[in-house]
Amino acid sequence: MAANKKLLVLPGDGVGPEVMREVIRVIDWMDRKRRASFDIAEDLVGGSAIDARGVAITPDTVARAKAADAVLFGSVGGPKWDHLGFEHRPELAILTLRRELGLFANLRPAVVLDPLVGASSLKPEIVKGLDLMIVRESTGGIYFGEPRGIETLPDGSKRGVNTEVYTTLEIERVGRVAFELARKRQGRVCSVEKANVMESGLLWRQTVTALQAREYPDIAISHMYADNCAMQLVRNPRQFDVIVTSNLFGDLLSDLASMLTGSLGMLPSATLGAPDATGRRHALYEPIHGSAPDIAGKGVANPLAQMLSFAMLLRYSFDMEEDAALIETACTNVLASGLRTADVMAPGCAKVGTHVMGEAVLRELDKLAA
Ligand code: IPM
Ligand code: MG
Repeated sequence: MAANKKLLVLPGDGVGPEVMREVIRVIDWMDRKRRASFDIAEDLVGGSAIDARGVAITPDTVARAKAADAVLFGSVGGPKWDHLGFEHRPELAILTLRRELGLFANLRPAVVLDPLVGASSLKPEIVKGLDLMIVRESTGGIYFGEPRGIETLPDGSKRGVNTEVYTTLEIERVGRVAFELARKRQGRVCSVEKANVMESGLLWRQTVTALQAREYPDIAISHMYADNCAMQLVRNPRQFDVIVTSNLFGDLLSDLASMLTGSLGMLPSATLGAPDATGRRHALYEPIHGSAPDIAGKGVANPLAQMLSFAMLLRYSFDMEEDAALIETACTNVLASGLRTADVMAPGCAKVGTHVMGEAVLRELDKLAA
């Protein structure tokens, strides 16, 4: 099969490489079964790039990411690099990719799969059937706002500064992504900010309100303060369909929402740029979990979030809905069969490591595709 789909694979640090290895086997499986074939390049990012090249990401890697049809990202960071200043940290790899590729819409689904309903720290009746999507703005806000820095005051003490800043256009483009997604889901968007305290939040609310009235009258819009949203996510998470919010609030709320599903090890994400005239858009896919240095190298990490990130890649970058759904079903079936990595272990299930979990997914794919 012609390999016309260009992937850049960036495993990163910690558990990144070990979970990515299992995904590569799924990619090989697709090739073997002649379902699809990918032209795969791999590169270093994060701490591993710092060790090898002195920087978290090189301009060459950024250029390769721009040239690829999609980027599959692992995770970056770890205690080894914690002492480094902001200019040199491993996290710069993902932040640079988001900024340089204009990846402004970070899609973070929180789905409770039936076999895992018991893995949530909330009661099953609260989370059963949960399926919400957080759309987090990811190239603006306080993550990138100027001025920023730590300055020394005349008396020798210091002052740390970051700036929360959003423009109409930044709010509108991420708002559109949320409204479009809602159209394919339950048709409801909840916009989250702190319009009661922050001017940037007030502009956010006004802009989303006007956008909905102008372009999305078919979508039900609601507004919520971020603190209330955190509370509502734990109280009654199924009230939400799509949540759209700023970079920082989205960072916090998506970690919170992910735990509703039982494990950070289960959740994928997609970060999308604006489509060009041909409909092509930059896109990066990564699990929500970090590099998990405490379990790295032990072969116990859950590879499913990375697998499900690859499924999102097939869906959003290549329109391969059938293959995406196949991988998702395989993951669900493996869990239903009682195999669990430690993070989602439950009484009566069999605890397995990263590689055995990967094997099980491949076996299930064989069965489903037979
Ligand atoms: C995330 C992570 C990143 C973020 C870090 C690694 C910079 O927490 O993707 O949520 O804060 O955006
Ligand atoms: Mg985060």
